[in-house]
Amino acid sequence: MNPASSVNGQNQNSARILLLDDDPNILHFLLRALFKQGYTVQAVDQPTKALDLLARNRFDLVITDLKMPEMDGIVFLKRIKESSPTTEVILMTAFATVETALEAMKLGAFDFLVKPFNLEELTQAVQRALRYLSTRNDLNQFKDLDRIKNEFLSNVTHELRSPLTSIKASSKLLLEEFKNKGMDIPLHIVLQMLSMIDRNSNKMIGLVDDLLDTFRYQTNKITLNNMPFSVEKLIAKCVEEFLLPCQERGLTLSCHIEGALPNLTADPIEIRQAILNLLGNSMKFTPEGGKIIIGAQFKTQHGNGEEKYAEKIEEKEMIEIFVEDTGVGIPQEEQEKIFEKFYQVDGSIRRKQTGIGLGLSLTKSIVEAHHGKIKLESSPGKGSIFYMQFPLKNGYSQSYQMHGSKNSKSEKPSSLTAA
Ligand SMILES: Nc1ncnc2c1ncn2[C@@H]1O[C@H](COP(=O)(O)OP(=O)(O)OP(=O)(O)O)[C@@H](O)[C@H]1O
Ligand SMILES: [Mg+2]
Repeated sequence: MNPASSVNGQNQNSARILLLDDDPNILHFLLRALFKQGYTVQAVDQPTKALDLLARNRFDLVITDLKMPEMDGIVFLKRIKESSPTTEVILMTAFATVETALEAMKLGAFDFLVKPFNLEELTQAVQRALRYLSTRNDLNQFKDLDRIKNEFLSNVTHELRSPLTSIKASSKLLLEEFKNKGMDIPLHIVLQMLSMIDRNSNKMIGLVDDLLDTFRYQTNKITLNNMPFSVEKLIAKCVEEFLLPCQERGLTLSCHIEGALPNLTADPIEIRQAILNLLGNSMKFTPEGGKIIIGAQFKTQHGNGEEKYAEKIEEKEMIEIFVEDTGVGIPQEEQEKIFEKFYQVDGSIRRKQTGIGLGLSLTKSIVEAHHGKIKLESSPGKGSIFYMQFPLKNGYSQSYQMHGSKNSKSEKPSSLTAA
């Protein structure tokens, strides 16, 4: 037998099993039996080869002889548990060494088979081990979900509570002033309190909107109100909204649009939301003195821009909107996770920035609902660039007109018109 022969069973998603025995007949028997049952099986005849394979590949289950000339079975078991603690082990043992096998189970082996065993016994032992593995994985996922749920609840409660506290404090103060001074209450106090109430209630509505939108996207209850519109003008509006808050934080915000852009046919309210989410993040995660650039360009899939003014529009043509910042950046290992719902790089409530971790998952849903792609380049300490690529569906020489949609979400533009 080839010392490291490998076979794939019919079921590609099946469990991966590694077999180890110095007796080629037993290896053949196991290999054939388990292959026929659809498992992905690999067989070796020496413990060192098995450890080498385990170091390079993931196996769900190892079935090994307890007594081998090269290495004691107990030592081998300990080495497996050290290098891949999630792999389960079934030992094969002669009757005389059953006690050692029991000892091995205390050290973490899942089960043992006494030689000679038949196909039925083998099948049952393997199925038991794999059932156990799957339950253990489910349990881990459940613990993960539970952790996310708890983090989410504490974040949402915290995020809703702080604007609510400001609203309560402002209205109480206003009421007391009225009680004490009646109509002589200074106008600037009234204005200050009312704008505080307005700002904080907008914050709360924004949060609830994000939650509702996430739910709508998740349950496919979003209807896109697509129409052709100018991305330049939409970006200009978004920049306008962010200029003051950026200034207040000591950040510079600039806009960079390359050449004339074709109109994009999409839902402008949703696209605006996606842009605001990215800008909001850049503003939150860029320290004072930093820069934020928002821009857009027309691209073909090859990205050379030469076909920019071509007459014929092809599916591959797209508009790319990007938001770049010189902020804290995102470590490589977090770059996929941040698009998951409620995920935050530092998920603890002690983090300085507000938010519940919904913005990016919502942005991704918006982009994908438009058949687009979202991409990220980031390095910690240097900054991030988020790209949203939207395929162009219609011609791009149209003038556009877009009026307020039926969508009554807060803080969304009621009307925008241009020639
Ligand atoms: N521009 C950025 N720079 C650095 N980190 C970022 C940036 N954008 C997002 N992140 C990280 O990704 C996480 C998820 O972002 P997301 O927008 O989904 O949530 P949030 O901003 O924390 O909350 P919300 O958007 O719900 O107000 C953020 O908490 C942050 O850790
Ligand atoms: Mg955000």
